[in-house]
Amino acid sequence: MAIEDVFVTLPVLTTGRLTLRRITEADADALFEIFADDQVTEHYAWDTFTDPEQGRELAVRTVEQYHRREAMRWGLVLPGTDRIIGTCGYTRWARDNRFAVVGYDLARKHWRRGLMSEAVAAVLRFGFDHLALNRVEATVLVGNIASAALLTVAGFRLAGRLAQRAWHRNTFQDVHMFGLIRSAWLTG
Ligand SMILES: CC(C)(COP(=O)(O)OP(=O)(O)OC[C@H]1O[C@@H](n2cnc3c(N)ncnc32)[C@H](O)[C@@H]1OP(=O)(O)O)[C@@H](O)C(=O)NCCC(=O)NCCS
Repeated sequence: MAIEDVFVTLPVLTTGRLTLRRITEADADALFEIFADDQVTEHYAWDTFTDPEQGRELAVRTVEQYHRREAMRWGLVLPGTDRIIGTCGYTRWARDNRFAVVGYDLARKHWRRGLMSEAVAAVLRFGFDHLALNRVEATVLVGNIASAALLTVAGFRLAGRLAQRAWHRNTFQDVHMFGLIRSAWLTG
């Protein structure tokens, strides 16, 4: 099996409180609910969802990205349920240079309970152990305090500030790039 097949075979990951599993088209409603919230999308390039069809489109796109080997995004579910409450995964994997870009989002009612820290830790472990990553990156709009705090707690370092890197709500905004290299992750 080629290593790229991992996009399609995406294994289930477990943490203390979460199961991370493939997203399917049946997750459309749950995705809509997560992104139909101005506070979740506040720092995103795209607008808050207003139509359940957007949840379906996102689910379909996510599944297509598995098959095109473009992105691997897990859905987060709590024990005893199968409804996803957030997503986490690699939005890009540069195999030649052995780095990947991580992304995540969580339904607001679950914020600040350490859940995404658990999910990110599992996704990092999978990346370093099974994808042979040497570096993981994340880009965060300056001002996204929660995301920057999450990355810092996960061991990422601020790599720099990219001036006007993002077109966001009709203006160019600065972005912080964070990075975590394997050797730093290993020594914690
Ligand atoms: C970013 C996000 C996923 C964090 O998820 P979470 O489960 O609430 O994060 P955690 O509870 O694991 O918190 C991780 C750390 O960040 C801190 N943190 C989280 N939200 C914070 C906030 N709003 N302000 C300050 N610190 C915050 C926590 O205190 C914790 O640090 P600690 O261990 O020292 O206490 C969530 O806020 C979210 O979905 N935001 C909207 C989507 C988004 O912006 N995604 C990222 C785009 S780059």
